[in-house]
Amino acid sequence: MSELPDRVTVTESSSRDGIQSLGAHIPTAAKSGLIDDLAAACITSFDAVSFVSPKWVPQMADAAEVISGVTAKGIRLIGLVPNMRGLELAVEAGLTDVGVLTAASDAFAEKNINASVDESMHRIRRIVLDGPLDMRFRAYISTATHCPYEGEQDPDWVAHLAETLVEWGVDEVFLGETIGKATPAHVDRLLDEVLDRVPVDKVGVHFHDTYGQAIANTVVALNRGIDKMDSSAGGLGGCPYAPGASGNVATEDLVWLLDGLGIEHGVDLVTVAGVAQRFCGEHGLTYNSRAGRALLAAKSAGD
Ligand code: HMG
Ligand code: MG
Repeated sequence: MSELPDRVTVTESSSRDGIQSLGAHIPTAAKSGLIDDLAAACITSFDAVSFVSPKWVPQMADAAEVISGVTAKGIRLIGLVPNMRGLELAVEAGLTDVGVLTAASDAFAEKNINASVDESMHRIRRIVLDGPLDMRFRAYISTATHCPYEGEQDPDWVAHLAETLVEWGVDEVFLGETIGKATPAHVDRLLDEVLDRVPVDKVGVHFHDTYGQAIANTVVALNRGIDKMDSSAGGLGGCPYAPGASGNVATEDLVWLLDGLGIEHGVDLVTVAGVAQRFCGEHGLTYNSRAGRALLAAKSAGD
């Protein structure tokens, strides 16, 4: 446990990854309100929206309106941009943080963003070169361990992509465990290669919890000193181009783990659980945080 970070930055993904795959449209005000309510729980970093084709992902068609409806101050709002058009829209919306997209596997990249891995890497290069000088770039490498179409991925290849992205000027590389199949052994092998080539302070993790491995995988990442983690309140989420994938690790479960390990995070866990449970109730969604369910049950038993 010697390399555990003192503090972890939690980036909240519920308003983007959490709802992008839902069929029923969530009203714009409810999306902005979710960000505001989670900001009130002291979350300061948000994977907030994506500027993608509304034909591909209708739920994100109101991304600019969602951003303009957020009233919380002093928070970091990240917009995903798959191409130059996305970058333009993010800049128009006033964002200075964008997430750029690639993947380890060609099959996933083609289905997700209609580009090969090579094409998506070159799109990223152009976005970083053409983006405003004050813009911060977070690159996601999806299917970093497993692809829904091509199976297990080569850690050495993922490390090569990560190293290239950092050389091209991205500020952070997030390893996307898109379909939640990886176990700690897979994450260990991936981090062996990635951390050999990329400084740990540039690496973050984005674990989905489909197979119930996300907390175990988070412990592996923490033990390697990784201090940037995505999570989704209530465990909401999935990718429209990764059939069957469930949400990110629940923010409440992640924060419970960090508390137990004595790692600072600044997040008000009970408030997050209350916000996410109410949001799920209002929109007919399943609330998927085990720590949150337990805490809210204990709270109502004590009331
Ligand atoms: P395409 O069809 O090849 O795009 O899609 P195109 O360049 O040929 O343009 C076609 C039309 O889309 C045009 O409009 C463009 O203006 C418009 P038309 O003339 O037909 O009216 N268009 C756009 N509109 C809004 N925003 C844009 C944009 N770009 C073009 N940025 C494209 C290519 C990338 C656009 C499409 O494939 C797409 O939008 N993909 C996004 C899919 C997506 O959002 N996936 C989920 C997010 S990734 C994820 O969840 C993984 C992650 O969580 C990590 C992990 O878990 O691993 C991050
Ligand atoms: Mg994801």
